[in-house]
Amino acid sequence: MEDKIKEISQQIEAFKIEGKATHEKFRIQFLGSKNILKNLFSEIRNVPTDKKKAFGQSINALKNQAQNKFNAFTDSNEEVQDNSSKIDLSLPGDTFNLGSRHPLSIVNEEIIDIFARIGFTVSEGPEVEDDWHNFTGLNLPDEHPARDMQDTFFIEKNPDWLLRTHTSSVQMRVMESNELPIRTITPGRVYRNEAISARAHCFFHQVEGIYIDKKVSFADLKQTIQYFAKEMFGEKAKIRLRPSYFPFTEPSAEVDVSCSLCDTKGCNVCKYTGWLEILGCGMIDPNVLKNAGIDPNEYSGFAFGMGIERMAMLKYEVKDLRMWSENDVRFLNQFKATW
Ligand code: PHE
Repeated sequence: MEDKIKEISQQIEAFKIEGKATHEKFRIQFLGSKNILKNLFSEIRNVPTDKKKAFGQSINALKNQAQNKFNAFTDSNEEVQDNSSKIDLSLPGDTFNLGSRHPLSIVNEEIIDIFARIGFTVSEGPEVEDDWHNFTGLNLPDEHPARDMQDTFFIEKNPDWLLRTHTSSVQMRVMESNELPIRTITPGRVYRNEAISARAHCFFHQVEGIYIDKKVSFADLKQTIQYFAKEMFGEKAKIRLRPSYFPFTEPSAEVDVSCSLCDTKGCNVCKYTGWLEILGCGMIDPNVLKNAGIDPNEYSGFAFGMGIERMAMLKYEVKDLRMWSENDVRFLNQFKATW
């Protein structure tokens, strides 16, 4: 027996642990659940009683020898270390900066939320649009002078394709493909070929909306806009409608909201008029309904459209349109969503 113990001791001594693989081999051979020392333990019963104690101690010494060799290599070699046991759970957690939402996203969400509360769904469509959905279908045939109201970026390879100049193009798509009644808003980015300045940009964002059903009236439109203005600008907000022209609506109107900064007394934000222009709207032209396959004798509807940058400028009193897209974090960090 003693010879056997000596032999194993020498084996342990001679075993060369050189890396991950031999380290694991050593563990299986001398420390694993089926290691060779285990056989020695089962031999104890064959050892004479007076030698049992010494025999047991020798096996334990062997076990320690193997364990020490194993530990020594583990400590000196990072490759075989089990790092999970080294995590210090008492260390404070890593802090990370959540950042803030872009002010245009905050205002966009707010507008969507206001209309969602009165049953409007959200519809989206492509930014590269065809002539039909952006212009012709909306009562703006080729050569129509009103096309000049929206300077357009055309796709060079195919002039039938363009960057949408308004999200009315999505309304056209929704009207063509949806069951009636329709009550939806269309938020999104639009493009116009304008020189970039404090008051104009070559891209901006809109939320437009349509409601089509039997017997939808101008009174419904006015009530909806009134509700929106109060939700957006406060309970005291008043609206006024001025007659206007859009090719896709008849009659058409532009809507002003009372200036909340000066309470209609006149200040430099409202240019001393007491009123701020916020959106365009009107009853959907029967021709447009027909173009979308809707019978104008049975159905009527209203449409409206507003610029998100304009809303955000009024809300946050930002005077230069370029700030919205310059991505200056010193500017953006000032805006926090309130929900
Ligand atoms: N599409 C118009 C624009 O971009 C806004 C509008 C929408 C006006 C719907 C009336 C009705 O200027």
